[in-house]
Amino acid sequence: MEKTKEIVKVVNLHAGYTYPILKGVNTIFYKNEIKFIMGESGGGKSTLLKAIIGLVKVYQGEIYINGENFLEASYEKRKNMLKRIGFMFQSGALISSYPIWENVALPLIINTDFPIDLIKDIVYSKLKLVKLEKAFYKLPGELSGGMIKRAAIARAIIDEPEILFCDEPTAGLDPLTAAELDDIILSLKETLKIGIIIVSHEIESIIRIGDKILFLQKGKDVFDGTLKEAKEKGPEELKRYFELIK
Ligand SMILES: Nc1ncnc2c1ncn2[C@@H]1O[C@H](COP(=O)(O)OP(=O)(O)O)[C@@H](O)[C@H]1O
Ligand SMILES: [Mg+2]
Repeated sequence: MEKTKEIVKVVNLHAGYTYPILKGVNTIFYKNEIKFIMGESGGGKSTLLKAIIGLVKVYQGEIYINGENFLEASYEKRKNMLKRIGFMFQSGALISSYPIWENVALPLIINTDFPIDLIKDIVYSKLKLVKLEKAFYKLPGELSGGMIKRAAIARAIIDEPEILFCDEPTAGLDPLTAAELDDIILSLKETLKIGIIIVSHEIESIIRIGDKILFLQKGKDVFDGTLKEAKEKGPEELKRYFELIK
């Protein structure tokens, strides 16, 4: 196993909306590993990912991205720090009148002055990573649910982040398509050496591709460790997931 590098560190994070949902979360996201975030529905899993990229109110605590204090950074600096993180939106969030390549290219079109041929080359290489290069000129409406998710992943990695956030990537997919997406996510870890953080309670996926689990309960990290540790000494609510597939 290659040496891991710490990319995101969350310390005693209290965050939420009109009141805190997260009430003291601590965790570290490393490169080159897949960590699943689990916990009850409405428990703050999505809120945690959104807090790390500055989309929800932080009441207390610290967030470090590559060792730098995110919450104390200037707007410009934050923007640069966030380039380390790719975010795959749950719905895919593709624009229906744009072909796949332009949807995937959007972050580059907006943030760089790269010539269009270079942008197309970069898009093609990312689409290849998610096995979607054949859909380059297709419209989102011509793609299946699994392909839409893959296009959303290609866009999330277009700017070469070190960490990829996926919020319930396999929700609504049939088991075979979900397994295909798992394989693609695993191959991204292996080829790009990025860290991948996945909100999901699909225990089959977790066992197939997960390295670690962060389990949230009542706004706190009640477990944060390897799958082996989760099975052996995780909280009962977490151990029960593993019993489902025995
Ligand atoms: N934009 C919002 N404004 C106010 N409350 C919200 C908002 N988004 C989520 N919540 C609330 O925060 C809590 C945690 O939500 P969320 O992080 O989405 O949970 P999870 O992803 O674990 O299912 C829920 O009670 C939800 O209703
Ligand atoms: Mg959620």
